Amino acid sequence: MNAIKVENLTKKFNGFVAVDHISFSVATGELFGLLGPNGAGKTTTINMLSTLLKPTSGFGEVNGFDISKNKNDVRRSIGVVFQEPALDTKLTGRENLEFHAMMYGINKETRRERIKKVLELVDLSDRARTLVEKYSGGMKRRLEIARGLIHRPKVLFLDEPTLGLDAQTKRHIWDYIKMLNKEHKVTIILTTHYMEEADFLCDKIAIMDYGKFVALDTPEKLKDILGGDVVSLEIKGNSDILMNQLKKWDWIKTMNKHDEVLSMTMEKGERRIPELIRAAQENEVDVTCVHLRKPSLEDVFLHFTGRTIREQESSQIDRNREMIRWRTWRRR
Ligand SMILES: Nc1ncnc2c1ncn2[C@@H]1O[C@H](COP(=O)(O)OP(=O)(O)OP(=O)(O)O)[C@@H](O)[C@H]1O
Ligand SMILES: [Mg+2]
Repeated sequence: MNAIKVENLTKKFNGFVAVDHISFSVATGELFGLLGPNGAGKTTTINMLSTLLKPTSGFGEVNGFDISKNKNDVRRSIGVVFQEPALDTKLTGRENLEFHAMMYGINKETRRERIKKVLELVDLSDRARTLVEKYSGGMKRRLEIARGLIHRPKVLFLDEPTLGLDAQTKRHIWDYIKMLNKEHKVTIILTTHYMEEADFLCDKIAIMDYGKFVALDTPEKLKDILGGDVVSLEIKGNSDILMNQLKKWDWIKTMNKHDEVLSMTMEKGERRIPELIRAAQENEVDVTCVHLRKPSLEDVFLHFTGRTIREQESSQIDRNREMIRWRTWRRR
């Protein structure tokens, strides 16, 4: 059974298309990731599915409830951890949870029992009476996850669960997310722009770019698309003729030139390196360094979009500036 079903879901802000006709489904019990650079449309997608934003067009269903027609049913059946911190820092950890549980109409006895459970789950039992303003970033994030779980949602949305946390805390949160999914059978949809996070956690990943899905599959299959190993040559000199020659070799599955690095995917990369270097020398291209590795999701992103996720992020900032300029100009 599907926990989530989405067809042609679209969101426009003043004509700007933030989410562009996406379609996908998430099976019950799955850990599903939306991976993409800043501004890709991840939060907008989550906000539509959790009924905070009204879709411009398209259809969405969560736990069998229509996100446009049965908003209350959707809300009761989900938990959400927002990208922006949403805790009351002047309250203690426990008070934050109490408040949330009351909003969901959970009676006093159940409240006490559930709060105890979720605090144990995220290792905050001994800090429950501390004011949240005294919590570390990781503790706040854990408390937010605990809060999202109090009413026992079947589906949990986590928007950038580890944004800005140090590596150790990140690992800790990853373990909780995995445990919730595997042991408590919570279907989880998370957004991230960390490749390694998506890779480690998710059963399935949708790579999102400019409001569209450019790929959707298991992390393994996404990497398999590239076919084998990635061999990268750091080069000096004009590589046009070399690249034209390499394009004719059918054992090279994909090729990408980026700055001074020529990356290719192929089976048994280690055996092909001498041949590649020879070809470079024959075409008067200097090879200064060679790398061989298994493909990462970064390679997959590069393959589908022609850019790295970081470059995409900086160009998104430019794009947003352009939008602002255009809107200001239009208002004049
Ligand atoms: N309320 C809004 N009004 C106008 N534009 C918006 C609004 N919310 C989002 N956008 C735009 O929609 C696009 C997608 O934004 P969104 O927040 O969904 O991206 P994201 O993938 O979550 O990015 P990030 O990784 O930075 O959180 C961006 O270009 C953003 O500027
Ligand atoms: Mg976001």
